[in-house]
Formats: sequence, C-alpha cells, structure tokens
Amino acid sequence: MSETNITKPNEGKEAVRETEKQREFMSLVKEMTLSTAKAKGRDLTACVITFGCQMNERDSEKLKGILTECGYRLTEYEKADLVLFNTCTVRENANDRLYGRLGAIGRVKRDNPDMIIGVCGCMTQEADEVGKLQKSYPFVDLIFGTFNVYKLAEILHSRLISGSTVTDIWESNDEFVELLPTKRKYPFKSGVNIMYGCDNFCTYCIVPYVRGREKSRASDDIVREIERLTEDGVAEVMLLGQNVNSYGKGLVEDIDFAGLLKKVEDIDKLKRIRFMTSHPKDLSDALIDVMAASDKICNHIHLPLQSGSTEILKRMNRGYSKEDYLELVRRIREKMPNISITTDIIVGFPGETKEDFEETLDVVRQVGFDSAYTFIYSKRTGTPAAKFDDLPDKKDIDERFNELLAVIKEISAKRAEKLVGETLEVLAEGIDSHDDKLITGRLSNNMLVHFPGTDKSIGKIVNVKIEESKGFYYFGTEVKYG
Ligand code: SAH
Ligand code: SF4
Ligand code: F3S
Repeated sequence: MSETNITKPNEGKEAVRETEKQREFMSLVKEMTLSTAKAKGRDLTACVITFGCQMNERDSEKLKGILTECGYRLTEYEKADLVLFNTCTVRENANDRLYGRLGAIGRVKRDNPDMIIGVCGCMTQEADEVGKLQKSYPFVDLIFGTFNVYKLAEILHSRLISGSTVTDIWESNDEFVELLPTKRKYPFKSGVNIMYGCDNFCTYCIVPYVRGREKSRASDDIVREIERLTEDGVAEVMLLGQNVNSYGKGLVEDIDFAGLLKKVEDIDKLKRIRFMTSHPKDLSDALIDVMAASDKICNHIHLPLQSGSTEILKRMNRGYSKEDYLELVRRIREKMPNISITTDIIVGFPGETKEDFEETLDVVRQVGFDSAYTFIYSKRTGTPAAKFDDLPDKKDIDERFNELLAVIKEISAKRAEKLVGETLEVLAEGIDSHDDKLITGRLSNNMLVHFPGTDKSIGKIVNVKIEESKGFYYFGTEVKYG
C-alpha cells in the first residue's frame, strides 16, 4: 500500500483549520492506540471493507490514511481490532450484503468486546437505515456518513472517551477537506475526486439523496493533488464524479470538463488519464476533441445508456432519447474510430414492455459495446420511481436480463477479438492471482491482459503483443524494443 502524506494545505481557509484540527485528533487517538497496543503486547489492527463504486474506493483510501495516522496497522483480515464498513445503497442487494456481514462480525465481537465496529458511507445517509443499525445492531460503535469522512479521527476519539456509540450524520458539507493523509490501494494509480454529489435526479437513483448536491473542486486544487500524486509514483489517475461532463458548474473560474482535462494533460509525469462517469446528456464536442487530440486520455469511455427506449428514458429522467444516444456514439466514433465504449443498463424499470426492451437490445447491437454492466431495477425508497407501480413480471425481467447478458457477451467477445495480433501499451498492475509467473496489466481501453513477467514491471507501462482473447481479457507477451 502506498502513502501520500500531505503537509501543505491549500484548499480554503476553513479546510485548513479543519485539517489541523483533525491532525490533532489523530495524534490524540494515536496515543490511546499505542498505549492499548503496549498493554496487549501487539499492534492494533484495522480493516476497512468497501462496497460500491470508485467514490467509495477513494473514500476508503482516505479512511485508511486516517486510521494509519491513528496508530492502527491496516489488515485485510476482518477480525481486526477496528472494522469499518464503507457502504453502498444504490441497489437493495448492496444493503442486504452489509447486514449479512455485520451480523457475522457482531458474533465475533461477542468474544472480543474491545473490538470497534463502524459503519459509514452512502447507506448511513438514509435515516431508516441508521434507525435499523441503532435498533438491531447495537454493537456498532461508529455511525457516520458521506459528508464527514475526514472526521473519522474525531469520531473515533469521541467513542474512545465516551465508551458509547457515536452517530454523526450530516445533510451536506460546503467545505472540501482533501489534505489529510491517504493510503492508496495501488502505488501507481489513484482516483481523484473532481466533484462531489449529483443534481440529475434520475428517477430510480438514490445517489443524489445520499451524496448531496453537485459541487466541483477548483481546477488548481485538482491539478496540485495530481502533481503530488505523480511525485509519489502515480502514473495513472481516474478523475471521479457522478457526472464529470458537468464539471465546473458553480465555480468562480470559467472552466468545463474539457478544459480541466487539458490542464491535467499538461502534468508532465502523468502518463494516463481516465474518468468516470460521463453522462450522455452533457457530453460536449469540445470533450470529444480534447480526447481525440490527447496522448494521455485513455481510449475508453463509459457512457451509461440505462435503457434504449425513449419512453423509458423519459420516465427515468435521463435527458436524452434513443436517437440522441446513437448520434452521440456516432460523433465519438467519427473522431475516435477505435475507442472502447462501455455502458450500464437497467432491466425491468417500471413500465418497461417487451417492445421497450427490444429497443435496448437494438442500441446494444447498433453500438457494439465493449462491455456492459447490467442491473435489474431495484426500488429505492424516497426516489420518484419508488411510486411507479407498473413493474414488469419477475419472470419477464429475468428472461430479459438473461437475454441481454447473452447478447452483450457475444458482441463484446467479437469486439475483443479484433485486438488480437496488435502490440499495445499496458500498465502492469500486479502479479496474476492465478499464476505467479504472469503479470496482469491494463490496456488503454481498460481491458486486462496477462503476460509472462516479473514484479519488476509493476507500475510501469510496457508493450504487450496481444495473442489470445478470452472474451473479456487477453493473454499476451511483452515486446521489448531496442
Ligand atoms: N452517475 C453514474 C451512475 C452511478 S450508479 C451515471 O449516471 O451513469 C451506477 C449504476 O447503477 C447506474 O449507471 C445504474 O445503471 C445503476 N443503478 C442506479 N440506481 C439503480 C437502481 N435503483 N436499480 C438498478 N440499478 C441502478
Ligand atoms: Fe444517479 Fe443519475 Fe446521478 Fe448517475 S446521473 S448518480 S444515475 S442520479
Ligand atoms: Fe453506491 Fe454510494 Fe457509489 S450508493 S454506487 S457507493 S455513490
């Protein structure tokens, strides 16, 4: 795991004060942790378990940075002295998974009463879920939300002093506190938050309610963060936002996402730029031009379709029609014929008929996605769609879902086949989990390649000849020039 220790805050006066305050809490907690460790004759360990999207992954790196400063040794082992669940609530099954894990950890705590268990993230922004945690899971010690991740040390301190559960949930936060230490999962790549929240209110989606209103960070702050990351060995960044295409709204400076990408591109040591997620309704021609002209922006765009039916898209409040989406793909491919396009699709939205679903299949076939994440619609309490009562039959939904999967699998395997024989740049990410003589790396188009090699290449960009396609990953061999 890699560490970035940031000492020079520059993101707003209030943020500076808050950073200093949190640093004080970190050292207070550290004293307590070290003295308990001494008494026990061993290090205290902490385990952070992450559900959900890249935003949560990045938040967990922040949580791990704080826990390290608080004197804990990080572990993947769930029976740790402190266990923190960073939750997702985008679909019901995400919540079910949390409660399953929490029940199990509660039983572990019965034999280890000193254990500290925390729940944070998107689920805790829902009052009902907090109520359920407090009532049915009284062994949970820390409950906090998405807006005060940076306050972990303060919350933990308060728990250690009081001995009782601390619940601290905010409705919003205007301050960006970005300058606390982080512990990255990968030394050579990192997520970077460019904006928080979402204002789109797609009718099925809980994210705007649990992540709040859309807010962009100043471009200079983003650039400075990426510069620091590159000094620390990062070659690839993933710019993160729920809708990166609306980056810049509400900022004093006059900048949009295309403009931000240009600034990020100029960072010398940075080799690769990815971003996520790009909403089709706001994708500008300027962005397509910047992508097409760039050497660093990866050859991939994730462009969630959700449905191919204009009628359903309207009910979803997505802000584009089937034709708009197809036209957008045409514009992208006109400038970048080989770009990889991936997507998200929801099956079984209320009111979806067989004909609507056929429209989705039609778009899937016309676009030829390189891959797609498919989800069965999940009703989220509090969203507008929760009131739509015309859900398709479960049997129909399951049939549609399976049909969609089969079509996507066939199309993406065909697309993947096209790269066989080419030699392409790969960022070597780690030793293959199934075969330690192989390295696993990622192509610019985001696909994985396994090739013979040693850990010496990890974190570097190497050339790999693609020899065999397995549908959604490849085997290849490294090519060394000169
Ligand atoms: N901001 C991103 C998506 C974030 S959520 C965007 O707009 O594209 C990731 C994906 O989860 C969504 O693209 C959608 O396909 C899926 N999703 C969100 N809410 C859902 C729900 N209630 N049921 C099923 N899938 C859902
Ligand atoms: Fe949810 Fe829509 Fe916002 Fe994406 S754009 S997070 S799907 S509301
Ligand atoms: Fe889940 Fe929250 Fe992300 S609900 S998908 S972790 S923003």
